[in-house]
Amino acid sequence: MYYLDFIESNIARPQPWYHSEMGVPVTLSSGTHQRAAFWLLRLSGRKEMDTMNQHLLNRRQFSARCAALGFALPAASAMLAIQASAQVPGTGEAPKPVVRTVKFPDGTTVPAIGQGSWRLGQGRHALSVEKEALRTGIALGMTVIDTAESYGEGRSEQFIGSTIADQRDRVFLVTKVSPENTAGEAIARACRASLGRLRTDRIDLYLLHAPVPSSRLAGVVAKFEELRAAGKIRSWGVSNFSVAQMEELFRVPDGHRCATNQVSYSLRNRNIERDVLPWCQQHNMPVMAYSPLGGSSGPLVRDPTLAGVGAKFGYSAATVALDWVIRSGNVIAIPESGSPAHVKENALALSVLRS
Ligand SMILES: NC(=O)c1ccc[n+]([C@@H]2O[C@H](COP(=O)([O-])OP(=O)(O)OC[C@H]3O[C@@H](n4cnc5c(N)ncnc54)[C@H](OP(=O)(O)O)[C@@H]3O)[C@@H](O)[C@H]2O)c1
Repeated sequence: MYYLDFIESNIARPQPWYHSEMGVPVTLSSGTHQRAAFWLLRLSGRKEMDTMNQHLLNRRQFSARCAALGFALPAASAMLAIQASAQVPGTGEAPKPVVRTVKFPDGTTVPAIGQGSWRLGQGRHALSVEKEALRTGIALGMTVIDTAESYGEGRSEQFIGSTIADQRDRVFLVTKVSPENTAGEAIARACRASLGRLRTDRIDLYLLHAPVPSSRLAGVVAKFEELRAAGKIRSWGVSNFSVAQMEELFRVPDGHRCATNQVSYSLRNRNIERDVLPWCQQHNMPVMAYSPLGGSSGPLVRDPTLAGVGAKFGYSAATVALDWVIRSGNVIAIPESGSPAHVKENALALSVLRS
């Protein structure tokens, strides 16, 4: 956790220059870089740093072995086998690896890092490369896959359906119904269409993509509950809900069965820390963090300060940014990547060796 402490006290404090609520590009000030360098030097002198470096050796070994294995092993057993074989050099002690997971209110436990798919299956990368990326992520344990009926007008769901067809049971599948498809029987129709595109008989988590007028909330929840009773969905939740909207949701019958609220959260956008995040924590509900690398162009992966911190500890800026997002244990991050190399970096945040 050492570099997370460093980030928290030196980089991630809510400061005007770090907020980008209006989508304005943000860069860290040179003063921040000086502070970063200063703290890295101070940290370097600390005893804990030795321990961290020992662990980083394991981290590098872990990465090298992942690459060498080519992800041919089943995800969970590959991760555990690799971790179980690692030792803290010089001590002979096995480190305490933590594969980070998050628990939903119904007790279902999922990995804290999943994979987004907003722009997958739509030509941003070659299809075969994107398939390899998604499958690599699953093999490395990022088995929560997030999509929506609206992404690429169904092409994202189709892409996922074809990519996971031979390993559906390993995946925790999340898709979303658009607010405009929520009147009357429209939700059931939308769900049927998503199931068809995803080539599956059930959705693990079905989200309302954005708020509907409060007068329609009870009807939406009733339809979600019907789908759940019929086994078409295992659980349901919402996305882009404010605290006021969550309170309204909890006032309608069965509204408290909501499994999650999927919202934007990253080092670039910490707005939910003011209200949604504590509210969800109080209600024992995990948050799904979308755009955890800062959004579709992934600005945080190019942040020089994060890159500097990451390099010191053997991680990329992307790994550090994701590690930070899931630090509380109540947040699932769903970075999107169509690049196998990037996916491997993102997966590193799933498992951190700590003493
Ligand atoms: N509920 C909602 O309203 C909502 C809204 C937005 C997004 N989402 C969900 O959240 C997912 C993720 O959000 P997002 O796509 O907005 O943003 P993001 O995950 O923060 O960033 C994605 C960008 O980062 C790049 N990237 C990923 N890993 C990288 C790495 N290790 N190194 C360098 N670049 C990397 C990707 O490019 P490469 O492909 O080249 O790696 C892509 O351009 C979406 O796919 C979607 O499933 C939900």
